[in-house]
Amino acid sequence: MRVSEIENPTNPSFLGNAAPVEKENNTACTEVIGKVPEELAGSFVRIGSNPVFVDNPETYHPFDGDGMIHEVHFQNGTASYVNAFVNTKGLQLEREKGDYIWTGLASPPDFNNEHGMMKNVANTAMVFHAGKFLALWEGGNPHHVSLPNLETVAEIDYDGKLNHPFTAHPKVDAQTGEMVTFGASIMASPFCSVSLVDKNGDLVHTTGIDMPKAAMMHDCAITSNYTLILDLPFTYNIENMAKGEPILQWDPDNGSRIGVLARGADGDQIKWFTIENCYVFHTVNAFEEGDEVVLEACRTPKMQALTDGRPDDVTVEDMPRMYQWRMNMKTGEVTEKLLDADWGSEFPRINENYMGLRNQYSYNGRMSPDVAGFDGIIKYDLVNETSQHHAYGPGRIGGEPMFAPRAGGTSEDDGWVIGFVWDENTQRSECMIFDAAKFDEGPVARIMMPERVPFGFHAGWVSQEQIDSQV
Ligand SMILES: [Fe+2]
Repeated sequence: MRVSEIENPTNPSFLGNAAPVEKENNTACTEVIGKVPEELAGSFVRIGSNPVFVDNPETYHPFDGDGMIHEVHFQNGTASYVNAFVNTKGLQLEREKGDYIWTGLASPPDFNNEHGMMKNVANTAMVFHAGKFLALWEGGNPHHVSLPNLETVAEIDYDGKLNHPFTAHPKVDAQTGEMVTFGASIMASPFCSVSLVDKNGDLVHTTGIDMPKAAMMHDCAITSNYTLILDLPFTYNIENMAKGEPILQWDPDNGSRIGVLARGADGDQIKWFTIENCYVFHTVNAFEEGDEVVLEACRTPKMQALTDGRPDDVTVEDMPRMYQWRMNMKTGEVTEKLLDADWGSEFPRINENYMGLRNQYSYNGRMSPDVAGFDGIIKYDLVNETSQHHAYGPGRIGGEPMFAPRAGGTSEDDGWVIGFVWDENTQRSECMIFDAAKFDEGPVARIMMPERVPFGFHAGWVSQEQIDSQV
C-alpha cells in the first residue's frame, strides 16, 4: 500500500508531524524571524524514516521507512531548502512494483525474500568523510549522496573490503582524517567488527571482536589512540524469533562492559572494563587523561524504550542522563559518575573538531517526563559541570541539535547550534539557529520552513568547504 493512500490512520507513525511526506522540494526560505548569520556557510542536514510503501499501516514500525534527507543550505545570510529520498535499491524496486516488498521489523522475518531479508533503508544518520557525504543505516552499506542537490550517487562497499554492517555512528578523527567504524552482526560470530578508513577513504583494517552474545550496539566512541566498544545487556535471541516473540531482550545476566581497543589493533588486544548494568544509545565523546580513558554518554539504567514502550509514569531516573566512566588503562579500574541528576537528554552533539579530545561542550535534546520528544536544548559545560537550557515552549518539539563551527573559529563554542522544531500550535516547521557562545540569549534566527519537515532521526553539518571538496 502507498502511504499517501492510507485513510484514517491510527498508527502514531502516520499522525501529526510524524506523518511522512512524499514531495521533494528545492526552494528558497523567505520567512525568517531574526537574521541568518552571514558567515554561516554550508548545509544543515537531517535524515529520517519516511516510508513510501508499507505492508500494513497498523503494524508499520517507525524504523522501517525509506531514508529522506532534509537540508537547509546557508550562504551569504540566506537559506534554501532541499529534501529528497535516499534513492536506495530497495526504494527503486518498490517504486517499480508500486507496492511494498519488505514487511519490516514488526513482522516475522521473510527468509525467502528474493531481494534479501531486509531493505537497506539508509534512514538513520549521516557522515561526511574523505570527500563523500554518506547516508547511513546500521544494517548495511553506506549510500553516497551529493550535496547540495541530494542526488544519490551509489551504495558503497569500499572496493569490496567492507565485510560487515556499518554503524550509523562512525567517528571521524578531525586531527588525522581517519574514520573508525564498526558493525554489529546478529547471526554469526564475530558479533562485532571494527574497521578503519583512512583519510583518503580507503578501508585499511578490519578486525573482529569476540563477544559472548550478539548485542544491539548503536554507537561507539574514539579517543586519539583508542576505539571504545559498548557490550551492553540488550541482546538478540534468535530462538525468540521462531516463537514470534521480540528478538531483542533486556538481558541483565549478560552484564555490561566497555571495551577499549587501540586504533588499528587486532580485536584480541581489547581491554574490557565491567560497569554497572545500563544501556547507552548515544555517546557524547571520549578522550584520554593521564592513564585514564574517559567516556561520556547518555545512559539509562535499563533499556526501556524498545522493550516496554514509553510508560505513562516515566520519571527522570528512567530517562537517558549525562554520565561519565573513567577507565584506568594501568590498574583496570573504572569509576562511574552521573553528570546531571535533574534532566533527561539524548541526541548529544559536539563540535566535531574535538572528536576524541577533551571537549567542554555538548548540545543535547532535552527530555521531560511530561513531554514526548525533545522540549528544548541543553548546552552542557562538561568541564565545569554546569548547563544552560533553552525551552522551546508549549506545543513545540525539536529534533537533534547540531553544532556548526564558524570557519576559522578559535574556541570550542565559536559557531552555531541548529535544529528543526515543530510547532503544534501553528502547524509549522522551523529551523532554529543559536549563537552557541551566547546560547542563553535564545535563537538568532527562526526560519519558517516552506514545507512541513516531519520528525526524524539524526542531524549533521557539512561546511561549504567540505561541500566544495566533494569527489
Ligand atoms: Fe543514533
